[in-house]
Amino acid sequence: MKDELQTRSTAPLESLDEWEDFLKERYPEPASAERKVSSVGTDPEKQKTEFRDYEANARDTVREFYKLNHEGQTHAFVLAKHQEYLGLNRMEMGVWEALQYLNQLIDDSDPDTDLSQAEHLLQTAEGIRRDGHPRWIVLTGLMHDLGKVLCLWGEPQWAVVGDTFPTGCRFSEKNVFPEFFANNPDSAVEAYQTECGIYEPGCGFDQVALSWGHDEYIYNVCKDYLPAEGLAMFRYHSFYPWHREGAYTALANDHDRAMLPWVLKFNEYDLYSKSHEAPREADLRPYYEELIVEFFPAKIRW
Ligand SMILES: [Fe+2]
Ligand SMILES: [Fe+2]
Repeated sequence: MKDELQTRSTAPLESLDEWEDFLKERYPEPASAERKVSSVGTDPEKQKTEFRDYEANARDTVREFYKLNHEGQTHAFVLAKHQEYLGLNRMEMGVWEALQYLNQLIDDSDPDTDLSQAEHLLQTAEGIRRDGHPRWIVLTGLMHDLGKVLCLWGEPQWAVVGDTFPTGCRFSEKNVFPEFFANNPDSAVEAYQTECGIYEPGCGFDQVALSWGHDEYIYNVCKDYLPAEGLAMFRYHSFYPWHREGAYTALANDHDRAMLPWVLKFNEYDLYSKSHEAPREADLRPYYEELIVEFFPAKIRW
């Protein structure tokens, strides 16, 4: 194993869950595939005030986390991470193996109430399975956060989790804590100050360098193996400014718009399926091992 392996996700968050708990407070209602993004919430002004309240009441650790994220995720940083990771030359491991590998990640979450990373993944997958969705969506649930292995390779929390956003164009005010973008060096780059920045309008998000994290990484690891809808769930599951706030639509194309209901549907299971009852990994393993071999070879490249 790499010698830089570190099992602790470093500050400011006590645990990666702290970011997801904040998201749940900010977006308390389940997203719905039937509901159009433009009609999320009833009164946009009221919603804006509520969001500001969540931000004002956020824990200092969460605030500090977003500050680091918004200041550090420059377009150049994202491209450098693509260079570093997207050749997938780090290691080879199977999907179930990756689940156990990720579980080495220890943070300061409360072991009595917080689920391990693998438990969250199993719980998400089980929720999808219970509702009778196709098998590849169940598998998407099982794998969607495996990109958090980046933490084990020394990446700081702000480059692993966080709501994602496009780089190389103007930062939307609909991002959480938009004021923290003021100190992002990209805010001084003239070419990035228009709605579409360096991109063509309607080019599609696959042309866009999104802020770096576990979403982009797992999407690339699985690109050759799952249907487009599953890949969209991977790549956009933390793209809240788009899928929950309707920002950045000028960059979207027809494919992205077709994927949106799938991403929203997935978000329901990811964010709201958390219960404190831990799934029984040993009982579930045979089902999932069988599911994995349906779509993946024994080892994949990371
Ligand atoms: Fe995630
Ligand atoms: Fe998740």
